[in-house]
Amino acid sequence: MKPPISTTRRTTRRATRGKAPASSQALPEYPADTTFATRLIAWQTVHGRNDLPWQNTRNPYRIWLSEIMLQQTQVGTVIPYYLKFLEHFPDVASLARADEDDVLRLWSGLGYYSRARNLHRAAQQVMEVHGGKFPEQRELLEALPGLGRSTAAAIAAFAFEAREAILDGNVKRVLARHFAVAGFPGDGKVAEQLWARAESLLPERGVARYTQALMDLGATVCTRKPECDRCPVKDTCVALAQDNVLGFPSPRPRKAVPERETVMLILMREDEILLEKRPGTGIWGGLWSFPEVEGKVATEADVEVACAERFGCKLMKTERLAPFAHTFTHFRLQITPLLCSVGKPRPGVQSGGTLWMTPNDAEKAAVPTPVRKLLKQLESGFSPFSLGEKGRG
Ligand code: ADE
Repeated sequence: MKPPISTTRRTTRRATRGKAPASSQALPEYPADTTFATRLIAWQTVHGRNDLPWQNTRNPYRIWLSEIMLQQTQVGTVIPYYLKFLEHFPDVASLARADEDDVLRLWSGLGYYSRARNLHRAAQQVMEVHGGKFPEQRELLEALPGLGRSTAAAIAAFAFEAREAILDGNVKRVLARHFAVAGFPGDGKVAEQLWARAESLLPERGVARYTQALMDLGATVCTRKPECDRCPVKDTCVALAQDNVLGFPSPRPRKAVPERETVMLILMREDEILLEKRPGTGIWGGLWSFPEVEGKVATEADVEVACAERFGCKLMKTERLAPFAHTFTHFRLQITPLLCSVGKPRPGVQSGGTLWMTPNDAEKAAVPTPVRKLLKQLESGFSPFSLGEKGRG
C-alpha cells in the first residue's frame, strides 16, 4: 500500500538536532504533525542557501539564466560563469542581439552547449513573441527553447511565486526516499508518481522559499551520502523508517554505453594551430574544434589527404598523443589526438570556417572541453615533436 501523500505521524522518532532537548517535554524543532512544506520552509530559513548570486531578486532574466546554467552543473562551477555572462549580457534584449559565437564563448567550459544555443534562441523569442517580457505562466515558459517542465516551474516559482512543482534530479531523490517510491525515476510511470507527490506537497503560500528548500535539501542533506540526522522531514521519511534510505531511488537499469572513436588533428605551423567551426547542430554545434578524421586509426595517408584537400597544407610529420575519453549523456567519445606538423597552407584552399591561432588565443574562443584540455597541454607542457613526459601515451 502507498504511504499517505503528505504527512505521517510517528511519535517514536524525535527530530533532535545538536544538543539533547532540555527536558522530555521539549518540542521537536520540525514537528511531524506539520506539513512537509512547513517543515522545509522553516528549515530553509535557517539552514538553506540564501546568498547565491541569483537569489534575492525577482528578475526573471537573471533567474532563467541561473536555472539554465544550473541544469547538469554544480553551483560552485556556475557562479563565475553566471557573473561574467551578466556583465556581457545584462538583460534579455542584449542577449537576443548578441552573436551566437559570443554567447558560446562565454559558455565555453560549462559543457552541454545546446543550453547556450537554446538560451540565445529563447532570448530572441522573448523579444519577438513576448515583447521583451518573460511570460509568467509555467506553460508559456515551457514553450521556450531549452526549458522543460521542472526548470519552467522553478523560474515561475522564483520570479512570480507561481504555485508550480519542480522535479529535478535531486528532488526526485528526495521524494523517492521520502515516500519509498520504487523504480528508476527516469521511467515514465515512476516519474508520474513523483510528479503527483511533488504537486500534492506544494504549500498555499511561500512557494519560492519552499522550492529553494527542496533544492537545498537535495543538494546538502538528502544527497548520495545522506545526512538523515540533519533532515527536517526525517520523521516522516518512509525509506528511513524502513532503514533503507540508500535503496532509493532505484538506479538506472544498466545498458552498455555506446562508444565512438575519432582522431583529432592538431595541425601546427610555427606557433599556431588550426581550429575549425563545427556545424550548428550535433555535438559541440557551433563551437571551434580541431578537425577530425572519424575512426580510431587514421593512416598517415588519410591524414596527408585530409591536410592537403581540406586545408591546403603539406603534412611534414605526425606524433600521436595519449588517447582519452570524453563522456556525453548517451555515448563515450574515444579521442586520439594527432599532432601534425604542416607547411604553409596554399592560399585559397582553406574553407571559410577555419582559423589559425596560437593555443593561448584559441583557449579564449568557444571550444569544447576536450579541446581546451589539449590546448592547455600544448601551452604548458611540451614543444611539439620534442615531447617531454607530459601528454605522451
Ligand atoms: N539548482 C537548480 N536551481 C538552483 C538554485 N536556484 N539554487 C541552487 N541550486 C540550484
